[in-house]
Amino acid sequence: MPRIVTELPGPRAQAFLAKSKQYEPQSMSDQVPLVWDHAQGCTIWDVDGNEFLDWSSGVLVTNCGHSHPQYVAAVQDQAGKLINCYDFLSQPRAELAEKLVSITPPHLDRCFLVTTGTDATEAALRMARRASKGWEVLSFHNAFHGRTYGAASAGGTQGVKLGFGPMVPGFIHAPFPYCYRCPFGRCLDECGLFCLEYLDYLVSKESCGELCAVITEPYQGGAGSITPPPGYFEGLERWARSRGMYFIFDEVQSSFGRTGKMFAFEHFDIKPDLVTLGKGLGSGVPCSAVMGTSEIMDILPPGSMGSTNGGNPLSSRAALAAIDIIEKEGLVANAARIGEVFKARFEAIQQRHCQLGDIRGYGLVYGLELVTDPESRTPDADLTRRTINAAFRRGLCIIAPIGVHKNVIRVAPPLVITEAEARESLDIFEAAFEAALAGE
Ligand SMILES: Cc1ncc(COP(=O)(O)O)c(C=O)c1O
Repeated sequence: MPRIVTELPGPRAQAFLAKSKQYEPQSMSDQVPLVWDHAQGCTIWDVDGNEFLDWSSGVLVTNCGHSHPQYVAAVQDQAGKLINCYDFLSQPRAELAEKLVSITPPHLDRCFLVTTGTDATEAALRMARRASKGWEVLSFHNAFHGRTYGAASAGGTQGVKLGFGPMVPGFIHAPFPYCYRCPFGRCLDECGLFCLEYLDYLVSKESCGELCAVITEPYQGGAGSITPPPGYFEGLERWARSRGMYFIFDEVQSSFGRTGKMFAFEHFDIKPDLVTLGKGLGSGVPCSAVMGTSEIMDILPPGSMGSTNGGNPLSSRAALAAIDIIEKEGLVANAARIGEVFKARFEAIQQRHCQLGDIRGYGLVYGLELVTDPESRTPDADLTRRTINAAFRRGLCIIAPIGVHKNVIRVAPPLVITEAEARESLDIFEAAFEAALAGE
């Protein structure tokens, strides 16, 4: 449980923060001044010995808990044996490909291993273009698929594009169903999923008739955990299929138990052709993958895709250990069960404080959208930042504000979180939120 023993940031943290300021660019996200030393399970210790509960999992990475002993042992053992052998085959890579094919639906019978989520996005886009006759990809406003040029062009957040143009051609962006702030000014009770109907109009104006794929996240994480209404993905998939397009599901952050299912696509009645995985797959050691059909992947000739670190023995072994822990310790079920504790508490807080405008998510990933008042729904970025700072001072680590308006608190603890840790962290959050409301 949290224990703050110095002023924050403490003296050692201040020294490292000064070094960072002197030697690193300011381009990374603006996190609270927590300088991590080590972490175990759901607890972080900073360099001054202060102890925090973790609502970040890095950034939805360490699903099986920080430095799980079984995971650490596997990584140490593999590091002593073999770390890189390029595209030459190793036992861990072959076994990881087999494992991933065995835990995904039967039509996803091929696994291509890479290193980062962005690599997986790029690989999926290349595969879709190569395997189809077209090259246009429909993607969404506010989406985040990575920061390289292909991935950033697929994405729809200004943050990754502003000043970095020109973007890669061939992407058509559609409004995503952000029902709390509907881009069409509609209401879910009466809209009949107008955002799906609108796609025909959009492509009739924007497309050169070369559509090949749709890419979407199951929920838009960085944009504020924006979770589409029931029936949306089923409708989107039907729409894509009726035009002969591939359906790409970006599960880089939503997989490996995060949403209370092993994969988020299990919440819907859909059958994506390509699924990208990352973050929780390696649970710390970078590892990512594209799962796909042999119909698509077997079209790619030898040498057309590959990378220096993709599928390396160390990250493959780490991923195998992480999946084993997730399965053996029932972390998917734990995420679903503890997620209900979170949800119930957030709803209770919302009853008391109307500035908690919207609660979105499932399993152990929530976005809490803070507003000045529920009628105007004016985003309150200042309250969001102050709540995160107040939580930090009380021993709870929360990622910097997310969302289109930077007014969303991201809740994403490691999936090993116990009910006692969940309740303790919720008590801290509520105290911090109330302190921020009072002006702290
Ligand atoms: C949905 C999604 N796709 C892709 C990425 C890019 O992953 P990475 O940062 O590992 O390149 C992220 C990262 O946040 C993500 O959330």
